[in-house]
Amino acid sequence: MLIILALALALVVASLPWWLPARVVALRVRVFNRINGDEGIPVPGDLVGVDRFREVYSHPAANGRSRGAALSDLFWYWLSPGPEMHQEHLEAGERYDAVAKATRGLLAVPRGEAEELTRRCAARTLAGARGLVRLRDLMMPLWAEFSYELVFAEPCPREARDLIVGNANDVVTSLKCTGLRHMERRHRLTRYLLGRLSRVRIPLPAGLSPQEQAFYLQGAFFNTAVVQLSEATAHLLMVLAQHPEVQERARTGDDRYLDQVISETLRLYPLFGIAHRITTGEIPLGGSTAIPAGSVLCFNYPEFHRAGFADPDRFDPGRFDRPARELNHIPFGVAANRPCPAWRLAPIAMRVAAREILHRHSLHSSAAHTRSLPNRGPCLLTPPHASPPRAALVLMRVRDRWEDVWRSLVQLVLGTYMVWDARRQRLCETHFDHPAENRT
Ligand code: HEM
Repeated sequence: MLIILALALALVVASLPWWLPARVVALRVRVFNRINGDEGIPVPGDLVGVDRFREVYSHPAANGRSRGAALSDLFWYWLSPGPEMHQEHLEAGERYDAVAKATRGLLAVPRGEAEELTRRCAARTLAGARGLVRLRDLMMPLWAEFSYELVFAEPCPREARDLIVGNANDVVTSLKCTGLRHMERRHRLTRYLLGRLSRVRIPLPAGLSPQEQAFYLQGAFFNTAVVQLSEATAHLLMVLAQHPEVQERARTGDDRYLDQVISETLRLYPLFGIAHRITTGEIPLGGSTAIPAGSVLCFNYPEFHRAGFADPDRFDPGRFDRPARELNHIPFGVAANRPCPAWRLAPIAMRVAAREILHRHSLHSSAAHTRSLPNRGPCLLTPPHASPPRAALVLMRVRDRWEDVWRSLVQLVLGTYMVWDARRQRLCETHFDHPAENRT
């Protein structure tokens, strides 16, 4: 009897990786919904279908950014360098215009210079890379140096790179609920930036206090830029690592093919799960139906990116033989409603970074590749054209599955805590309730 019980227990334990993570994720979603409430109109959904997704996203009344949505408290908690000063969080108005102009100015780099800058940063940061790596960690120093040079037009000192990576890694780790935020890392970077404001290569918005200027730079360039580029490149390299024929063609093929691979990667693994807007007026939908003012619209990127594609879960760069504008594909948002200001620069830089890696290594991975990539993209780097190290790949798969068991439990506990803490602190709601007190 004891032997049977022991055997049954061993079987349950051995099978954990195959069933526990999915159940824990489902439980986490239920807990999040319970704490957050079911605020929000899902788009696409019953009210607005896929066919009107872009139209509603682009509607002038779909322009409220933060105020009036409980969801904003959560985003502010995770992203904010200063609760009220992040371009992504600002409401439309003079401040937003000034900040968006500065971002455009810093990102307006000619293509050749952007390529050269990426090459230089890759040469400095990828020199020692070999063996088993986590792609997100591998890419972060590169994009930290890249962003630093965009802002200050001089090479990034090691001290600054460590501060930037420390902060960006902290933000993205907490976004994935695999770790808590460490505010001291954020403050150290803010202090560093405060001391460097006079060295920024364009004038910063004059209406902002020095601390707000530092928060602005930190939010857009040393948080969002570094996190997004690291995640996007990690996805791209994971795709190449798991599709050897695509990898080979990308290594030897022209830029057009690599651009198609990037587009398809961002279709399957969009960096935004949901972008929300608060309606500032009514949006008529025809007949007697309308979306009332004050509604929270939740634009679901992964769902939109799957709609209208045959076999949408299959990776197929050939889909982009057609112009992307004809497809349900908005990896950088919609042009009429605060799209990503790096929509032109980011793919250029990603392409060069991918070429620099493919030039030095072959990539192999057997780990799970999901949109949120909580495993940070385990990958084996071998000399170019080396045959796939089969035993190492089997080991990687087993290890990744077991890590997933532990990780899913950590995500459940830390995620629940952070969602609860964000609801408790109500950074966004408090800011709008007491605007004068909250000005830095
Ligand atoms: C491949 C990399 C990137 C992707 C896929 C991406 C994606 C996006 C998307 C989808 C949005 C719009 C979300 C919405 O409608 O609310 C957005 C907004 C934004 N992104 Fe990016 N992004 C990337 C890289 C960057 C970089 C390098 C920067 C550097 C500054 C950046 C800065 C911003 C900012 C400031 C906003 C807010 C725009 C506003 O509200 O005015 N992003 N990004």
